[in-house]
Amino acid sequence: MLLRQLFDHESYTYTYLLADADTSEAVLIDPVDVHLEMYLRLLEELGCKLVAALDTHVHADHVTALGLLREATGCATMVGFEGEVDCASEGLADGKVIAVGAIEINTLFTPGHTDDSFCFVVKDGSQTYLFSGDTLFIRGTGRTDFQNGDPGTLYDSLHKKVLTLPDDTLVYPGHDYKGWTVSTIAEEKRANPRLEPATKEAFIELMNGLDLPDPKMMDVAVPANRSCGLKS
Ligand code: FE2
Repeated sequence: MLLRQLFDHESYTYTYLLADADTSEAVLIDPVDVHLEMYLRLLEELGCKLVAALDTHVHADHVTALGLLREATGCATMVGFEGEVDCASEGLADGKVIAVGAIEINTLFTPGHTDDSFCFVVKDGSQTYLFSGDTLFIRGTGRTDFQNGDPGTLYDSLHKKVLTLPDDTLVYPGHDYKGWTVSTIAEEKRANPRLEPATKEAFIELMNGLDLPDPKMMDVAVPANRSCGLKS
């Protein structure tokens, strides 16, 4: 499997390109609209054909490139059912398997940061990869104070789903604000302060006390992303 991690400096968003090295079919996870040309160039340079573009959730901090990529390449566009995104060609659902060549992308419904949040799990040989969106960050988690976020739901998604993955699973987050690029489930269990609270109640108290400012682009990004980033 070919994996590329791309970064948007404005919103600290990671976008991932996965491709089957044999069939050259590729998928993009969480692409950002302003980087359309870069994605198209990279796909061409790698000799890859984009078959699908996925969003882990409706983002509040950047505008998705799903609509632009579909117009440019004819790829499928997928985002969770809960996010009311009518322009997506297909919805995501827990347990759905998206085939990209021989790569199987398993969708895990992990609400909590938003009510439409998904993680993607990919196995390549004995190695498991988790594309964790804003559900689990390196030494952090996504916030839970808007877009129907709920700290109790995030706690359940983390502890009943995400943290049950093998300890050596590589964790590729949806954002990083400090320069971390990749972690593992074992490392996060050991060192992530958001995983320290021993009870759900303590986690809810921690999350409800964060008092974070709204994302800069929230008023623009959420409505735009409900139409796949395309202006109506
Ligand atoms: Fe988010």
